[in-house]
Amino acid sequence: MIAIRNLVKIHPGPVCALRGVDLDIPEGMFGLLGPNGAGKSTFMSIVAGLVEPTAGTVTLDGHDTIADPGYMRERLGYLPQDFGFYPDLSGRAMLEFLLRMKGISGPRGRRTLAMELLARVNLTAAAGRKVGGYSGGMRQRLGLAQAIAGNPRVLIVDEPTAGLDPEERQRFYRLLAEMSAGRVVLLSTHIVEDVATLCPQLAVIRSGELVAHTTPEAACGAVDGLIWEGFVDDAALPEFARHHRVISAVLAGGRTNRVRVFVGVGKAPPDRFSQSAGTLEDAYLVLMRCSADEVPPALARSVPEPSAGAAGAPPVPRAGGAAAAAGGAR
Ligand SMILES: Nc1ncnc2c1ncn2[C@@H]1O[C@H](COP(=O)(O)OP(=O)(O)O)[C@@H](O)[C@H]1O
Ligand SMILES: [Mg+2]
Repeated sequence: MIAIRNLVKIHPGPVCALRGVDLDIPEGMFGLLGPNGAGKSTFMSIVAGLVEPTAGTVTLDGHDTIADPGYMRERLGYLPQDFGFYPDLSGRAMLEFLLRMKGISGPRGRRTLAMELLARVNLTAAAGRKVGGYSGGMRQRLGLAQAIAGNPRVLIVDEPTAGLDPEERQRFYRLLAEMSAGRVVLLSTHIVEDVATLCPQLAVIRSGELVAHTTPEAACGAVDGLIWEGFVDDAALPEFARHHRVISAVLAGGRTNRVRVFVGVGKAPPDRFSQSAGTLEDAYLVLMRCSADEVPPALARSVPEPSAGAAGAPPVPRAGGAAAAAGGAR
């Protein structure tokens, strides 16, 4: 498990990218969801031990990795958001080069290891082709091949599916899911579908603050009954939005919009709107659009709060949180 306590990062500027994040990340796939600029890459690079935080602690299986970044690095596979390749190298040569940089070889040599890794990410047929000619999905799979080299305890992948077409995204999902067994996999994304498909648990960050730690099921459940859908003409939309919490508005047939609104408990829905089943996308948009006092508490947290004490200690469930905790036991 990775335990993160009071993580603060102030970039030069100054820009406060993380405002005191507390989070326990268990083994398996974990999704970190948030819009551009929320602080995801900052968070990932600190957890990876590549950037020092302004304050706070990170432990991996009880070891302080801020004091001893080597402990994390020896156990880490990392696929950064912007992974640079040499376009003129073949996939195999690029991977061999990266393995040499990481100091990793296999029992039958580095070239054999490179070919084994390429096979694991379904790139055997493209091993001899120049990386410059790879599709986005192939590049990401090559990035994943270097990240899983050496069988790391922790795999950190920063926005790996951004820019992939639906088919490539599905392929990448399958690989990541395969690779999550027995390790901590931290995936950041601004794409709700990534998390819905892959992650038993997720955290949502907004402007450097953790606004939710939950499961996809619990998040949908928390907004169920509170989402209403109807149609609003384009011209009337700004006025409508002044009176209702619009979660999404999608043009339907040119001038009218299919509008989803969040209606808090005890509030009246708009006329001629009907209730709609809550989705993870709705839950995410509620977290993005609503102030902290409007967000249903069950949406913000369904996983026990991390213990305030020493990082790495087992979390203590809160009184009354039994039903919510059960939602997290997937
Ligand atoms: N090296 C840096 N120097 C100054 N500001 C930075 C730096 N890296 C990130 N930021 C700022 O910190 C905030 C969070 O950025 P980032 O962690 O990249 O978010 P995300 O990955 O969620 O898009 C943004 O406002 C960004 O402009
Ligand atoms: Mg980023």
